[in-house]
Amino acid sequence: MSTRTTLITGIGSLVTNDPGQGAGPLGLLTDAAVVVEGATVAWVGPAAQAPAADERFDAGGRAALPGFVDSHAHLVFAGDRTAEFNARMSGQAYTAGGIRTTVAATRAASDAELDANLARFVREAVRQGTTTVECKSGYGLTVEDEARALRIAARHTPETTYLGAHVVAPEYAEDPAGYVDLVTGEMLDACAPHARWVDVFCEKGAFDGDQARAVLTAGIERGLTPRVHANQLSYGPGVQLAVELGAASADHCTHLTDEDVAALAGSATVATLLPGAEFSTRAEYPSGRRLLDAGAVVALSTDCNPGSSFTSSMAFCIAVAVREMGMTPDEAVRAATLGGAQALRRSDVGVVAPGARADLLLLDAPSHVHLAYRPGVPLTAAVWRAGVREV
Ligand code: NIG
Ligand code: FE
Repeated sequence: MSTRTTLITGIGSLVTNDPGQGAGPLGLLTDAAVVVEGATVAWVGPAAQAPAADERFDAGGRAALPGFVDSHAHLVFAGDRTAEFNARMSGQAYTAGGIRTTVAATRAASDAELDANLARFVREAVRQGTTTVECKSGYGLTVEDEARALRIAARHTPETTYLGAHVVAPEYAEDPAGYVDLVTGEMLDACAPHARWVDVFCEKGAFDGDQARAVLTAGIERGLTPRVHANQLSYGPGVQLAVELGAASADHCTHLTDEDVAALAGSATVATLLPGAEFSTRAEYPSGRRLLDAGAVVALSTDCNPGSSFTSSMAFCIAVAVREMGMTPDEAVRAATLGGAQALRRSDVGVVAPGARADLLLLDAPSHVHLAYRPGVPLTAAVWRAGVREV
């Protein structure tokens, strides 16, 4: 029996992210159609030339783009930090220490509660057009709590990241070296089977350059690929370390020297910008313009977590990146789709092309530019994830 095909036609404007298929870096097609076969895109081109299919969906002239690829999120947690946010908006500074509040709530939660929370956030993201989401541990900070976070995350996404080195666990407050030994030893043994990536928060109040190197190197030896929370709250060694170790991504990149920018531009390490974090900590935004002009690959992601960025909205990140970070709407949309895919070293998502996974976001708008032009407006008209209509 052959797989059923669906023709999505009447797409007024389609971002393919494949310059070989359409105009400009976004590979933009007008009056386009897509044929989906099972979980995969089978055909892309002008609607007038579309082949027949088993089913037909008329997009009515709306704009479509690849589903968002949210390459940085922390979704295994319990509780929230409303009081901390409220205090911050009354003038208090953000510090890495708040993470411990969520660690306590997460440890106290059952597996079922954590799974239900995660499922709710993934659903919330899908409703807003996100079809790939990465998920980190980092709110357990014991061998068993980190391993269970990753076991639960792996039920919802293949993009799981071991972040035992989020902050030093409270039990090791007087013995950070002992905690790094745990993270690079017994905890890594328990977590590596459930993780694709290894991450570390390289920052004052979290882990310094030497500690971060030890964590990432141990992860690499266990077959994990590195990504780094780098240069978020201050200048530091995170970005250079990420580039040196061939990390897929250096995330945050808020405080960059010219040398940091040059290192990113001369490497395959993606600069992942997380404007939700600057928004919610009332901090200066990083310059996407500076990174793009230097030749770096830029991704945009939500950093969804209860402390520094409690948003799952990629559209919000696009709007802020355009308004505050010097990016054009085209650059921001590309960073939120193809950029995220590159940060996760995925070639099957972030594009609309034959052979790619059929992840599509149809907007209640005539152009992808409306994602920045109409901030805060829910524009999701329909979402397909791996060929399945989700919204
Ligand atoms: O990416 N920077 C480190 N981790 C998170 C914050 C986590 C928290 O505050 O709970 C981030 O911003
Ligand atoms: Fe983060």
